[in-house]
Amino acid sequence: MTIPRPAAVVVLAAGEGTRMRSATPKVLHTLAGRSMLAHALATARALDPERVTVVVRHGRDLVVDHLRQVDPEAIVADQDEVPGTGRAVQVALTALDERGEVHGAVVVMAGDVPLLDAGTLGELLAAHAVDGNAITLLSTQVADPTGYGRVLRGTDGAVVGIVEEKDADDEQRAIREVNTSTYVFDADVLRAHLARLGRDNAAGEVLLTDVVALAHGDGLRVHALLTDDPVSAEGVNDRVQLAAIRAELNRRILEEWMRAGVTVVDPATTWVDVDVELGQDVTLLPGTQLHGATVVSEGATIGPDTTLTDVEVGPGAVVVRSHGSLSVIGPRANVGPFSYLRPGTMLGTEGKIGAFVETKNTSIGTGSKVPHLSYIGDAEIGDHTNVGAASVTANYDGTTKHRTTIGSHVRIGADTMLVAPVTVGDGAFTGAGTVVRFDVPPGALAISANDQRTLLGWVDRTRPGSAAAEAAVRARGPQGPQAGAPPGHDLPDLDETATDEKDTPR
Ligand code: UD1
Ligand code: CA
Repeated sequence: MTIPRPAAVVVLAAGEGTRMRSATPKVLHTLAGRSMLAHALATARALDPERVTVVVRHGRDLVVDHLRQVDPEAIVADQDEVPGTGRAVQVALTALDERGEVHGAVVVMAGDVPLLDAGTLGELLAAHAVDGNAITLLSTQVADPTGYGRVLRGTDGAVVGIVEEKDADDEQRAIREVNTSTYVFDADVLRAHLARLGRDNAAGEVLLTDVVALAHGDGLRVHALLTDDPVSAEGVNDRVQLAAIRAELNRRILEEWMRAGVTVVDPATTWVDVDVELGQDVTLLPGTQLHGATVVSEGATIGPDTTLTDVEVGPGAVVVRSHGSLSVIGPRANVGPFSYLRPGTMLGTEGKIGAFVETKNTSIGTGSKVPHLSYIGDAEIGDHTNVGAASVTANYDGTTKHRTTIGSHVRIGADTMLVAPVTVGDGAFTGAGTVVRFDVPPGALAISANDQRTLLGWVDRTRPGSAAAEAAVRARGPQGPQAGAPPGHDLPDLDETATDEKDTPR
């Protein structure tokens, strides 16, 4: 069945959301990488309506700023001081009509029902069109209907009205079929009946739900489509509900990926945002969180305990116990455990970023490795280069960031300090502990560490009787402190150094 295209979708987002107890407007709270409002808008847009309008009031500027980012085309309708969902829809319709009078099907939905999907709305639109209804609303049966508007049906089963909790009598309160705040209205019916609404109810508000009884009274067709999935229609009123809905959405996202060929070892501790993309035979180990526009290609393994935000992971790559954002990890590359990939990290094919390594704004070429205990920032590393343990790019002079360029087939010795701006040419080496302050030409070896001084017998003289001195005596046997001098080693004059009792090793 083709889904009829609605003339407009109205998203209600003006309510205060008091029970969230938050400085952030309710509809801006997030789940699965999107605000509740953005979820509602994504659902609205999936129906391909001619126009979308969002009713705002509480936290108006914050909500509108956010709306400009997630859906710049949406029309903002400002609700005035008159309270109630009926008033909200009135201002929405006015905003729409000002841009050309609306006719046909108008979907009204709440901004705080993030699990509501386009499929359900499509069914509602189809039912509305096929039956030629004036109003088609989505209802559901709940175990505890407290707080909801109850759907009133006549003896023939036809919908005759909706009564809000506060206005309901005991008999009506016992009804378990409730209004989900999701409707399709005929625009002309809506316009005519909204104009007739008063505020004569317990809340003193203009209630959208009162349109139902008015339309029924005029002999118009009102139908309630009963969904058997009450969770999808559930509105978020507080943070407890938000957590429950978030977990449910995550469960649904993971289920979809598992059916598409992704292994999720522990769904309870794995969190994947709606916009994430996963390839076939990806494995997500416990404690994995994938956020934003993260893409993981086929056969890659992520986790355990890894958080990636806007990261692209190549096929067959392995990322273990790591944290990354705005980075690219190449095919069959290796990351972790305990790596920190900051924005702008580009790791090439079969490259490696290992344990306790932090990278930022750095590209590391094919087969190149930074295996242990390093900071590499604002750098470019060629192919098949190895960066020894504990090497650091000193990229910041206190004022400006500078770049480090390291060529291909380079061997950076352990504990090399690269003082940027500096370039190490292809095939060059650096000795352990080198401070590279000047460019190293291709094929050269750079060493800057001081010559080692070895003061024989220093412990015997300065720490006599200590455990260290006794251990040395035991190791040397009957010979004196001159024993153990490395053959051919260039030793300082013992007599000269021996006179200085305060001499300490450097
Ligand atoms: C509403 C329905 C109720 C239904 C329930 C489902 C009415 C009168 N009642 O009650 O029948 O069972 O939702 O969750 O419609 N809003 C505005 N402007 C306002 C007031 C509300 O835009 O002046 C928006 C809110 O931001 C929210 C939506 O309308 O997105 C629903 O408002 P809310 O106050 O949560 O209505 P409920 O009392 O839950
Ligand atoms: Ca509500």
